[in-house]
Amino acid sequence: MLCARTGKRGGRGRPAQHRVVINDDDLITSLAHTTPEPPIKNATTPRNPKNPQKKAPRRAAAATTTANGSAASRRAAPALVAAPRRAARRSRSVRVQAYKVAVLGAAGGIGQPLSLLLKMNKLITELRLYDVAPVVKGVAVDLSHCNTPVRVSAHAGDAELPGALAGADLVVIPAGVPRKPGMTRDDLFAINAGIVRALVGAAAKHAPGAIVEIISNPVNSTVPIAREVLKAAGAYDARRLLGVTSLDVVRANTFVAEAKGFDTRDVDVPVIGGHAGATILPLLSQSRPPADFGDADRAAMTKRIQEAGTEVVEAKAGAGSATLSMAYAAARMAESTLLGLAGEPGVVECAFVESDVVPGCAFFASRVQLGPQGVAKVHGLGDLNDFEKAALDAMLPELQAQIAKGIEFARSPPAPKA
Ligand code: LMR
Repeated sequence: MLCARTGKRGGRGRPAQHRVVINDDDLITSLAHTTPEPPIKNATTPRNPKNPQKKAPRRAAAATTTANGSAASRRAAPALVAAPRRAARRSRSVRVQAYKVAVLGAAGGIGQPLSLLLKMNKLITELRLYDVAPVVKGVAVDLSHCNTPVRVSAHAGDAELPGALAGADLVVIPAGVPRKPGMTRDDLFAINAGIVRALVGAAAKHAPGAIVEIISNPVNSTVPIAREVLKAAGAYDARRLLGVTSLDVVRANTFVAEAKGFDTRDVDVPVIGGHAGATILPLLSQSRPPADFGDADRAAMTKRIQEAGTEVVEAKAGAGSATLSMAYAAARMAESTLLGLAGEPGVVECAFVESDVVPGCAFFASRVQLGPQGVAKVHGLGDLNDFEKAALDAMLPELQAQIAKGIEFARSPPAPKA
């Protein structure tokens, strides 16, 4: 059921291709978000058609397989993560390239759990772990003992960065320092801006065709920095640079599900704007299933989603920011990206990309459709209610300033190394 391998290899230097047939019930380790079905009224838990009072049994077993799609050694496995929306239960068949993914900052708080989730991804055959910290070698050894077929390699320090990047299809960048209580994401700019500039510069040189996904904060500025660096290197393609904002969607889905008693896997709330404070704007009016909020509850829910990162920073009390939920959200984004590359139709995520959706805002997070070249389509915002329109107007100056700050930094010459 999971894999029917053709066994064909691509041309010289091209990765093997095989066809994977994915039934949605198999998507136990799959996080990708495909276009949801039309809104479901009231009940959000799948029901048993013979007895509508009884919930449909949930399939607890997952199939595991080898990375190249062979063997199909399947066994029952616990559900580790649930796909955000599995309402559209159907079989899909995608032609899969054997993807190579590089994680830059792989030994860090986000990098480690992200690498673990990617090690479980059946679209990936090679996972390159890069970090300035030598412990990345140990992280790779540790991860390599997991009996999934993804090959893991370690790359420590500047000299080994080209090896991590060469031929990568997707480069995910969580590198950088996290917030401490009392800090904004913008307070990280002084350190993380330079880190992102250097890493994207290396990606431009050694993986010029790769899709680059940036997690490092402040995303509202680091993504514009990345664009400038890629442009200067002649390697920029707007379809291939994305800021990861899927954690805002993951949080919105979770909080709305909790508030409304929905099954969280069925909830989809688009979150637009950017990834910092007031620039994070959940469109609760477009929630699926529809979720009604009175004025006070709408404002409180919006605030909770906007401040969710700070909630984690404060709870960790100086020991960092969100790592596990960020890794989860970034793994979902990576998987969606790879499914898009593989030709899976209807893969949609919210991401912070170059956009003309909001005049005067060169980058904006909105729903994007992912395809074989990266971002295939940037969707418009749909209908906003008055609360959302006002919040959008109010956030724009802040978002524009953060974008401009990144561009200005990238265009100024880097400080000489001490
Ligand atoms: C988050 O949203 O959790 C991350 O951007 C980390 C942070 O500093 O809040």
